[in-house]
Amino acid sequence: MASLSLINVPFLLVISLSIVTSSMVASANNFYQDFDITWGGSRGKILDNGELLTLSLDNISGSGFQSKKEYLFGKIDMQLKLVPGNSAGTVTAYYLSSIGPIHDEIDFEFLGNLSGQPYILHTNVYTQGKGEREQQFYLWFEPTADFHTYSVHWNPSAVVFSVDTIPIRVFKNLESIGVAFPKTQPMRLYSSLWNADEWATRGGLVKIDWTQAPFMASYRGFSSSACSLASAKPSCVSSMPNYSPWLSEQLDPLGERRLRWVEKNYMIYNYCTDAKRFPQGFPPECRAIS
Ligand SMILES: *[C@@H]1O[C@H](CO)[C@@H](O)[C@H](O)[C@H]1NC(C)=O
Ligand SMILES: *[C@@H]1O[C@H](CO)[C@@H](O)[C@H](O)[C@H]1NC(C)=O
Repeated sequence: MASLSLINVPFLLVISLSIVTSSMVASANNFYQDFDITWGGSRGKILDNGELLTLSLDNISGSGFQSKKEYLFGKIDMQLKLVPGNSAGTVTAYYLSSIGPIHDEIDFEFLGNLSGQPYILHTNVYTQGKGEREQQFYLWFEPTADFHTYSVHWNPSAVVFSVDTIPIRVFKNLESIGVAFPKTQPMRLYSSLWNADEWATRGGLVKIDWTQAPFMASYRGFSSSACSLASAKPSCVSSMPNYSPWLSEQLDPLGERRLRWVEKNYMIYNYCTDAKRFPQGFPPECRAIS
């Protein structure tokens, strides 16, 4: 397995990124400090002195929040507890996105299901406005019973999606073969809970049961070790100890093995094997992966 290499170090130098050692921990995970509820009014709530955030969905509206900061590379972790019970037709989206017509986006979307039926974790990556890179997974635990950590580790060589520190997807920097990589557009972190029963559960066959409303998802344990563009002057901030390695971090052999384990046992859709969708041939990043 080819190892990831750190590409584009010059870019980091160009924007004269400075890594600032700040005092850690205490102020980590304060939703008041890091996020704004942007949609759904009182359906989004920050509770417990900023340690907990909840979103809800009812027959009038869903709700959502976004980060105050924009990030350009980062290691971002959040704990989510998904809508319990009959969540069919609901989608909890958790993603990073830039704005504008050629945006970059790194997506987790949790597709709800009937009680006792498995959620689907749907992922996608957009670069320069182009997506169509879906991969879907079942999870190896019940995501509504407890909080689990969902992470994006984004550096100049790769975007790694992880669940409870287990890598589930790697989008490598393959600019060398003409695949755009997100590296110039800062992104905000967004999350929303909404009605997607047109497509979410069994392809749209199972609709939301509104007698179960309101539906609620919960968030806690946000931690970021990221370069943020607070103003014109980029600076690197951290709310986590031992943060600096992420900028050059690579998937180690254990990470590679875990990734293969997830792909083998839990992956249920991969655009790179869906020949029907790409009659002209698979995208180059699919051909590059063994
Ligand atoms: C929405 O749900 C409320 C509470 O269950 C109900 O009273 C109301 O009629 C519903 N509204 C619509 C537009 O379905
Ligand atoms: C919901 O459960 C059905 C039946 O087990 C399964 O086929 C489907 O993949 C599950 N998830 C979603 C989001 O449809």
